[in-house]
Amino acid sequence: MSAAAPMRLRIAIQKSGRLTDSSLDLLARCGLKYTRGKDQLMCYGENMPLDVLFVRDDDIPDLVQEDVCDLGLVGLNVVEEKRLRFEARGIAPLFERVRPLDFGRCRLSIAVPDGFEYRGPGSLAGKRIATTYPSILARHLAEHGVAATIVELSGAVEIAPRLGRADLICDLVSTGSTLAANHLREVATVLESQAVLIRTPVPIAPAKRDWTERLLLRIDGVEQVKGSKYIMLHAPRAALPAIAKLLPGSEAPTVLPLDGRDDRVAVHAVCRETVFWETLEQLKAIGASSVLVLPVEKMLA
Ligand code: PRP
Ligand code: ZN
Repeated sequence: MSAAAPMRLRIAIQKSGRLTDSSLDLLARCGLKYTRGKDQLMCYGENMPLDVLFVRDDDIPDLVQEDVCDLGLVGLNVVEEKRLRFEARGIAPLFERVRPLDFGRCRLSIAVPDGFEYRGPGSLAGKRIATTYPSILARHLAEHGVAATIVELSGAVEIAPRLGRADLICDLVSTGSTLAANHLREVATVLESQAVLIRTPVPIAPAKRDWTERLLLRIDGVEQVKGSKYIMLHAPRAALPAIAKLLPGSEAPTVLPLDGRDDRVAVHAVCRETVFWETLEQLKAIGASSVLVLPVEKMLA
């Protein structure tokens, strides 16, 4: 390891799974350039002091806990399960949630086999529930005052009922196709999940902290431009209040004079929501012309 190595930030992301592509996409949008060889477990950031570690998602909180990585991109489901486990053992979790991110949405749900009559949490009493999330499930059962047996598995939860290892399951659902393929029906949501950025609460070297702050600002910028549009139009000055109301999720628009025109102005605004054709038609109806809607590539608040 070179002398400069401790000054480099390390971020852990999922090696292969639902979060991998979106995590890499996010880092690329933040400006990170790296080359990844086949099966390579660590990539060196070429233009930022940021290296990427590719690991199993379940290991990401532990890597931050043990100070191997400073940051991690991982599902809230994994973070919550780890946090509860550490808590149960009286260990303070050394990873904190910094940002929810706009990808990796799924839910941890209770699912029952065809023919199982579910009439609310009480129907779980005395049953065997297979899961890879025993701590989150235990908390859920306790909240509902239900006593059931938790069968902790390391994978292939969806086939546990058919194998006779459990009566029902508690597992992640995204598209629902795994449940459907295994004749299971989702009956209750235990946790809504999405990708989150976690980081160590332990003080790090100032150079690393500065880069973390820069990265966070860039991540915010990337999240903000998703769906954002830049709108430019000409309109009668008198129509400005009505236009401001029509532009979805825009903050104070920029109003510019038009050469040789006292009655009309140019309006520029960033809209944080989808701009529909209907909105453009309404803008035209109140006198707007030359309406342009442009994608926003980067934003720094
Ligand atoms: C989850 C879950 C199911 C699948 C559900 O596993 O255990 O197998 O996703 O997704 P679907 O509703 O779209 O079919 P995941 O891919 O997270 O794997 P992991 O638990 O091993 O990380
Ligand atoms: Zn996993």
